[in-house]
Amino acid sequence: MTKLTIATQPIAGQKPGTSGLRKKTPVFMGPHYLENFVQAIFDVVGCAGKTFVLGGDGRYFNDRAAQVILRMAAANGAARVIVGQGAVLSTPAASHLIRLNKTDGGIIMSASHNPGGPKEDFGVKFNMPNGGPAPEGVTEAMYKRTTEISEYHIWESQDVDLGKIGRQSLGGMIVEVVDPVTDYAMLMESLFDFKAIAAMFSGGFRMRMDSMCAVTGPYAVEILENRLGAAKGTVVNAVPLPDFGGMHPDPNPTWAHALMDEMFGQNPPDFGAASDGDGDRNMVVGAGIYVSPSDSLAVLAANAHLAPGYAKGIAGVARSMPTSAAADRVAKAMGLECFETPTGWKFFGNLLDAGRVTICGEESFGTGSDHVREKDGLWAVLLWLNILAVRKQSVAQILAEHWAKFGRNYYSRHDFEAIETAKADAMMAELRGSLAGLAGREIEGMQIAAADDFAYTDPVDGSVSKAQGVRIMFADGSRIVLRLSGTGTEGATLRLYLERYSAGPQGLDLDPQQALAPVIRAAHTLAAIATHTGRSEPDVIT
Ligand code: G1P
Ligand code: ZN
Repeated sequence: MTKLTIATQPIAGQKPGTSGLRKKTPVFMGPHYLENFVQAIFDVVGCAGKTFVLGGDGRYFNDRAAQVILRMAAANGAARVIVGQGAVLSTPAASHLIRLNKTDGGIIMSASHNPGGPKEDFGVKFNMPNGGPAPEGVTEAMYKRTTEISEYHIWESQDVDLGKIGRQSLGGMIVEVVDPVTDYAMLMESLFDFKAIAAMFSGGFRMRMDSMCAVTGPYAVEILENRLGAAKGTVVNAVPLPDFGGMHPDPNPTWAHALMDEMFGQNPPDFGAASDGDGDRNMVVGAGIYVSPSDSLAVLAANAHLAPGYAKGIAGVARSMPTSAAADRVAKAMGLECFETPTGWKFFGNLLDAGRVTICGEESFGTGSDHVREKDGLWAVLLWLNILAVRKQSVAQILAEHWAKFGRNYYSRHDFEAIETAKADAMMAELRGSLAGLAGREIEGMQIAAADDFAYTDPVDGSVSKAQGVRIMFADGSRIVLRLSGTGTEGATLRLYLERYSAGPQGLDLDPQQALAPVIRAAHTLAAIATHTGRSEPDVIT
């Protein structure tokens, strides 16, 4: 074995976004591409004598990239790397291992819910010792390093056998291969009443969990089928595949349509759920009823105390700004602090670390708690199961009671994808320019109360994030939010978030798109979406 120092040159565009560096797989497989970025990570966070966690969602190139990262960690002097068997770890499981082993952070290989395969997406991100995604200051430093890099270090050696659990040595560095599921499953057992959930399953409760040929398959089979006794076959698409079997592992009604068909078909199971490529997102569905992520967050916050891990009550709730205010109503009723943060999980990290909140969520199918520092798909599924087991009601009954008590925030997100960037920017600029004159105006029969461009001051460290999305608030509690996606790979994606509040007791069971019709019209008029982009219909509705 020889330690090599390879001369390299900066490669343009290695700028990590909120979820790390994401590119097409062939780009990542190009000469020095992965190596340059990994060296930039080590140069910024330091490597000598350190311990890291390594794993990914199992997508195409995951196994090869892991070998490169291990050889580079060894050559940069790392003491130990804890790797999921087969180089696989779900994102929440990686976050947990970082915290459990008090490591110096971890490298996660994933492009989340984006398709995988030789022509699809790949990604690498660094998580901090608290288990959460690197903050902007750190990712900026990594990016800067990629623009000046001139060499990287790597061992020339055979592959490490990542199929074999246990300790091996690579150039003096310990490679510790661990079962990807065991520690995570134990964490879940410590939070939830497995006995009560198992009793519900043995009493005939039926569930369908769609792992979408992505990373949660082995986790869901072990926890739901093996430990909780759900019927064999409860978990479908349970074997992770390098190309996710051609699926788009994004758990929403559009991409998880097979699950939706089953849950709205004849004799549906009692409960359905799906998760994404790396296991941090979730969608939950009852028999014949869809649970919007914003409502899911509110129901989980209102009922978390029914699970042993949260029996003492929760400290507070945080939601991303575009997420509906359903959770705010729960927080208010329970006398809890409630925070509205910009889009992106990293904004929850400080609040969780400071113990200000216990439960967080985003409208984009992300929910989680202070047990890790990532959103966690299976955690949300298990908390729902715990609640169902204790309340002994259907999902539909739980939602109906929730709305009767708190009122209902009708909610929907309309995505307009692959818009020409210049056109999307022009539309947002014009809208931002008009905000000052909007308050007091009436549009489509609705009275505008206030309008702004959302800015956030972190209550813990005082940092300020500006221009996080345009908000138009109406006198009746309705709301429109517009922002451009920060994760899209093709042109610009306009996200239009629509919300309307109904206090009840009447009008709690309308179709959301119908309930939102005036709000949708107002949004199109205000932002002149069709005039600017040529689009009048969204590509994806969630
Ligand atoms: C999207 C979601 C956002 C989530 C992010 C990463 O970002 O909207 O809530 O945190 O993916 O999973 P966007 O493309 O809207 O910037
Ligand atoms: Zn994800």
